[in-house]
Amino acid sequence: MKKFDMIDQEVSQSINSLIHEADQSENTEQQSKISSVSIFGLGYVGLVSSACLSMIGHRIIGVDTNERTVTSLNKGNSPIVEPGLEASIRNAIEEQNFEATTDISHAINNTDISFVCVGTPSTSEGALDLSYLKMVSTDIGNCLKTKNRFHTIAYRSTMEPGTAENVLTPLIEEASGKKADKDFAICFHPEFLREGTAIEDFFAPPKTVIGAKKASDTAQISDLYQGRFDDNLTVTSLEVAEMVKYVDNTWHAVKVSFANEIGRICQTCDTDGHEVMEIFCKDKKLNLSPYYLKPGFAFGGSCLPKDVRGINKLASNANVDTPLLNSILKSNNVQIEHAAKMVGEIGCKNVAVLGLTFKQGTDDLRETPTIPLIAKLLAQGHNIKVFDENIKNTKPLLHYLQHAECADQSVINFCKNFGNHQAHSIAEVLKDAGTIVITHESEQFKTIVAQRAEKQIVVDLVRLFKNPKGPSEIYLAGMDNYLQKPARSTELKEMLNQHISPTNSSEKKHILLAEDNIPMNTVIQLKLSSLGYQVDTVTNGEDAVFMATNKAYDAILMDLQMPKLDGYEATRHIRNLPNESSEVPIIALSANIIPEQSNTYYGLCW
Ligand SMILES: NC(=O)c1ccc[n+]([C@@H]2O[C@H](COP(=O)([O-])OP(=O)(O)OC[C@H]3O[C@@H](n4cnc5c(N)ncnc54)[C@H](O)[C@@H]3O)[C@@H](O)[C@H]2O)c1
Repeated sequence: MKKFDMIDQEVSQSINSLIHEADQSENTEQQSKISSVSIFGLGYVGLVSSACLSMIGHRIIGVDTNERTVTSLNKGNSPIVEPGLEASIRNAIEEQNFEATTDISHAINNTDISFVCVGTPSTSEGALDLSYLKMVSTDIGNCLKTKNRFHTIAYRSTMEPGTAENVLTPLIEEASGKKADKDFAICFHPEFLREGTAIEDFFAPPKTVIGAKKASDTAQISDLYQGRFDDNLTVTSLEVAEMVKYVDNTWHAVKVSFANEIGRICQTCDTDGHEVMEIFCKDKKLNLSPYYLKPGFAFGGSCLPKDVRGINKLASNANVDTPLLNSILKSNNVQIEHAAKMVGEIGCKNVAVLGLTFKQGTDDLRETPTIPLIAKLLAQGHNIKVFDENIKNTKPLLHYLQHAECADQSVINFCKNFGNHQAHSIAEVLKDAGTIVITHESEQFKTIVAQRAEKQIVVDLVRLFKNPKGPSEIYLAGMDNYLQKPARSTELKEMLNQHISPTNSSEKKHILLAEDNIPMNTVIQLKLSSLGYQVDTVTNGEDAVFMATNKAYDAILMDLQMPKLDGYEATRHIRNLPNESSEVPIIALSANIIPEQSNTYYGLCW
C-alpha cells in the first residue's frame, strides 16, 4: 500500500481508504500480479490512468508526442490540474513505477498492454476527429512488427461504434503485418472519470466495461485491477462498449438540459425547481431506474402524451423556451413512422396486428400508438386484421377518438370501421397474414411467433424474446452465429451454408446437434437429414465436448441451456481443444435468442 505524503491531506485520506477498502476484498495472489503498461496520450485520461495504475504497483511507461509534457512529467510536474495527480506521479517516479517518453518502440517493447488515451476532438462538421487515434495505431503497429510477444491494445478514447474494429485494427494489421486475435488483441475500455474527482472515480468507478471480440481478450485488462472492480465489470462486444460511452455522455447532457428546462418553467410559476427535482430524484422505481429506458415502440396511454402536451403549454404560455421538452412528442411520432416504414418495406399486403391497447394487460386505448400505426399502414395500402383479447367491439374505439388529439381522417376511418378489421381469434388474425406485427409483450405471442407458418414475417415492436445475456455474449463465448428455435429448414440451410466451407461439396457434411429437449432434438435432426446432412446428436454440453474432442464436424448446433455444461461453457471448452475442432463453426440455438439477423423476424430499434 502506498502512502501519499505529498498529496493534500483530504484527497490522500480518501484515496488511501478507497484502495484499502478494495484491498480488503482481494486475495493475495491477485495482488501480486504486476504488469507493465504503456499509456499513449498523457492528458486527463492517460495521466490519471498512469498515476492510478502505478499506485497499485504496475509499471507504467507514458507516451506523448508533446516533448514539453514528457520533460515536465519526468521532473514530477503535472501538465494538468487534478487533485492528487501531481503528488501521485511524483510518488510513482520515486518508486520507479512511472516514466514518460516520446519513444514508442521503447514503450511497446517493454510492456504487454497499451492503453490509448489520445484526444478525439470534434471536427468542424461535428464528427470525432480520428487523426490522433489513427496516427497512434499506425505507430503501435510499426513497433509490433518486430515484437514477438503477444500485445493487448485497449482504446480508452471516445469513438463511434465500429471504429476500433473497422478503422483502427486494419491500420495496426497493415503496419505490423500481424493479425488481430492471433498476434495482438484489441479492446475498448471506456473511461468514466469526472475531471476534479478523477482519482477517486478511478478507484470507485460507476462501472467497468471492457469490449472485445473474444472474452479471453479482456483478461489481461481486467487482471490489471486485481479483482477490485469484478463485481461491477461488464464484458461485451467492441461496438457496444464504444456506444455505451457515447450514450452515457448524451444521457448526462439530457439530464442537465431536462433539469434546466424544468427549472425555467418552475421559475415562472413561483415553484422551487430544486425542491421539485429533489423529490423527483427520490423515485428510484420509475424516475431514476431502468424503467422506460429500453428502446421499443412509442409511448401512449392516458397520461404521458397528455401531460407532455400540458407542460409544453405551461412553458409556452409563460414564454419559456423548452426545446428538449418540445421535441418529445415529435420524437414519439417518428417512432410510429419508423415502425410503419419497417412494415411497409417487408412488402406483404396482409398484415396481422397483435395487440391494440397502449400496453398489455389493459383495455385502455387512450392515445395508443398502435392506432396511428395501423392508420399509416392502411394508407400504404395494407389489409389489416387486429387481435386484442381486451377489445371486444367498436365502442372503445369511439372512446379513443374522443381523446385523440387532432386525429386524421385515416385514424377516424379505422376507428369507425373497426368491425371490418377486428379478428376474434388468433387463428382468424393469422389466416392469410404475410406480416405479423407484435405490439404487446405476451407469452401467448411468443408461442404464436414460434409456431408461425414458414412464409410469415414478424415485426416485433417490443422485443418479445429477451436474451438475458444479449447477443454479444454468444460471440464472446466463441460462437459464430445464432438461430432462433424452432429452426426452420430454410433458416438452417442458409445458416449452415454461410458457415460451412463449400470444399468437397459432393461429400455429406457432418453436423453435431447438441439439444437436450428430445422432441426438439428429433425435429431438428429430421430437418437436417432431409437437407442432406449427416447428424450426430447429444443432449448435454459435456457430451458435445466429448464428441467434438473425438470427431471432426463441419458445424455444431449448440443449444444454450443444457444440463451438465450449458452451451456457453461447452463452446469455451471446444474452442480450447488441441485439435481442429477448436475452429469448428458453432451456431447457438435458443428459443429466447434475439433473432435480429433472421430474414423472417425484424425488431424495432434492434
Ligand atoms: N477528459 C475527460 O474527462 C474524459 C473522460 C472520459 C473519456 N475521455 C476521452 O478520452 C480521450 C482523451 O481525453 P483527454 O481529455 O485525456 O485528452 P487530452 O487532450 O487532455 O490529452 C490527449 C493527449 O494525447 C497526446 N497525443 C496526441 N497524439 C498522440 C500520439 N500520436 N501519441 C501519443 N500521444 C498523443 C496529446 O499530446 C495530449 O497530451 C478523448 O477521446 C476523450 O473524449 C475524456
